[in-house]
Amino acid sequence: MNEEKLLSQIDKNTLPMHIAIIMDGNGRWAKTHKKARVYGHIKGVKTVETIVEVAKNIGIRILTIFAFSTENWQRPKDEVDFLLDLICQNTKRYLPNFMKNKIRFKTIGKTEDLPYRLINTLRDAQRKTEKYDEMILNLAINYGGRLDILNATQNIAKQIKNEGMNIKDIDEKTFSKYLYTDPLPDPDLLIRTGKEKRISNFFLWQLSYTELHFSSKMWPNFSAADFYQAIIDFQRRKRRFGRL
Ligand code: IPE
Ligand code: IPE
Ligand code: MG
Repeated sequence: MNEEKLLSQIDKNTLPMHIAIIMDGNGRWAKTHKKARVYGHIKGVKTVETIVEVAKNIGIRILTIFAFSTENWQRPKDEVDFLLDLICQNTKRYLPNFMKNKIRFKTIGKTEDLPYRLINTLRDAQRKTEKYDEMILNLAINYGGRLDILNATQNIAKQIKNEGMNIKDIDEKTFSKYLYTDPLPDPDLLIRTGKEKRISNFFLWQLSYTELHFSSKMWPNFSAADFYQAIIDFQRRKRRFGRL
């Protein structure tokens, strides 16, 4: 079905408030086109641009994109350097666009371990867009679901030890406040491209009642139409949250 037709099927009143995306398949896309993996990442940036634009246009409030996992450091150094540099360059390049479109840029993850230049670029983009509230673009970079939970646990333990926090006060709401995602709500919809049906240490706590959508398209081939289809698919589901 074409883009326009799909778009007309989306109910603007029941949009997922927070969509999270595991963009996967850049390397395999490059391989089928007989190119080096880095070309897949370059092409993948174009998809990010498209999806950010259409998400903003239809009124998605929060878009989280998983860009670099805590496990991705185990790739060859050349690829890691290339990826981090690509994120740095494109954050810089895209900053005027964020400002023009009133997009608030945010990051989650252990950014302090990233290269210095990247830390500065990410910080600059966050600072210059912090007043915008039409859409939050949340970039997960050096992020891991287990890291998130461990980091929260360590910080809560510090509060107990040093600030007299009461163990009884650790409930779901309090715990969530120590996660990287605070104060964002949990995602309503998770999209993973690239055929694999796994979470790969992305949001673990946050996905407890998220609807999952797996696309067999490689990320560079994922289109606005595919994104609309994922939302339509989401809107056809009945979320029960354990109730009847
Ligand atoms: C996703 O594509 C990009 C990142 C993980 C940063 P991949 O690089 O994982 O591509 P495949 O899965 O090898 O095809
Ligand atoms: C998940 O993709 C990480 C990101 C999209 C940043 P991976 O390609 O790293 O996941 P695996 O290795 O297939 O599980
Ligand atoms: Mg992959």
